[in-house]
Amino acid sequence: MEWYIIEGGHPLNGEISLQGSKNASLPQFAASILNRGVCVLKNCPDIADIRTAAEILEGLGCTVEFGKNSVKIDSSKAFGYIINRSVMKKMRSSIVFAGSILSVNKSAAVHYPGGCPLGERPVNIHIDSLKKLNVKVYEIGDAIFCFADDIAGNEIELPFPSVGATENIILASVKCRGKTVIYNPAKEPEITDLQNFLNAMGADVYGAGSDKIVINGVKRLKKYTEYTVMPDRIAAVTYLAAAGITGGAVNIKNVRCEHIRNELEALKRMGFNITEGSDSVRLESLAEVRGFGKIETNPYPGFPTDSQPFMCVLASVGNGKSVIEENIFSNRFRYVEQLKKMGLNAKTEENRLEIEKSCLEQKITEAEDLRGGAALMLAHLGTKGIGVVKNTMHIDRGYENIEGVINKLGGKVYKLYGEEKNDKGK
Ligand code: EPU
Repeated sequence: MEWYIIEGGHPLNGEISLQGSKNASLPQFAASILNRGVCVLKNCPDIADIRTAAEILEGLGCTVEFGKNSVKIDSSKAFGYIINRSVMKKMRSSIVFAGSILSVNKSAAVHYPGGCPLGERPVNIHIDSLKKLNVKVYEIGDAIFCFADDIAGNEIELPFPSVGATENIILASVKCRGKTVIYNPAKEPEITDLQNFLNAMGADVYGAGSDKIVINGVKRLKKYTEYTVMPDRIAAVTYLAAAGITGGAVNIKNVRCEHIRNELEALKRMGFNITEGSDSVRLESLAEVRGFGKIETNPYPGFPTDSQPFMCVLASVGNGKSVIEENIFSNRFRYVEQLKKMGLNAKTEENRLEIEKSCLEQKITEAEDLRGGAALMLAHLGTKGIGVVKNTMHIDRGYENIEGVINKLGGKVYKLYGEEKNDKGK
């Protein structure tokens, strides 16, 4: 088991270039089989989830070649329709491959996906939506078998704007008969990026980012497509918060400020100096940090649930109370228990978390999910002395070389193979 050993108390200063987006590139990997040809994804992050996505594609018959920040996928022989159960369990996004596999191979055999333990994460909206597209779906144990001789476009109104379900419907509909209209779709920027990638491939999709997405089915797609994945908005907020918690000043290049508007507003309320450029952002710490008041997580354009753990860590150095209301996942405050071990002064009641200024001390903490794990790293970076975050694999799912990025800014993070002492002290 690998651990991050972190010597905290060093202000992070300097400039970094942001990685490509995890949550945009994952559905784009799924989309890459639709043209039965070659897709080159540039600015694709080299992270564990992307390696899992590559494993899924290889299992279907694709070849996947990793270059420097780009990936070439050849799906000309992708005739497989089964995703291995153990691979499905590695990440939530594996379910999004069902739509594109169905589109090209008429059947898909998948399982209930894994992913971060953030509370109940059913796939009912995915399944109900696929059924509306004339797909027959059978759930047997935790396996899901789908058959689609003729995917037919339809009008689908989502009961909740699920990101993954919106992606699955789009992917299943790109080559459908007729037209699919999604009402109340997810509006996240990653959906718009998927639309842009698909249209670069020759698809006819419009409306992403609005209340209605339309997919006109097309017969053929281009055999060769190159596309540049959007920057990772959640990684941007992670590194801004890392600068803030250490009292430093960091410039991030290759960022789209419009994607992190809520977080930038909250950081300004806390007293950080934020300077926006056309594709860059700078955070500078000033003398006093204040609480951010209240944040309510909601589907985009609301405050992203993925960013709330970083705001919680920052709130621990802010004067005044900060409150987070979590409205997306039922169990997204697990990381708070780990922060409490370090001395976080916080109170949780159902979906509400109240944080007050705290005096944290270094401890051994345990990452239990991706963003919560990264938030623990931030807490250790902001605290003098040496601390540990166990289970680095959760963090490595979404961050490309996080220790390298932090160390480039003057942090001291080491990744080591760690093991508990047994009771004989060995
Ligand atoms: N939901 C259902 N039924 C469904 C689908 C979703 O009840 O069929 C519920 C979920 O249980 C959850 C809520 O709807 O309570 C939101 O789920 P959604 O489907 O929108 O999220 P997702 O597609 O599973 C993506 C991101 C998450 C991010 C959420 C919300 C990817 C790979 N994952 O998940 O990112 O938190 O949207 O914005 O795109 C992360 O990157 O750390 C991460 C967890």
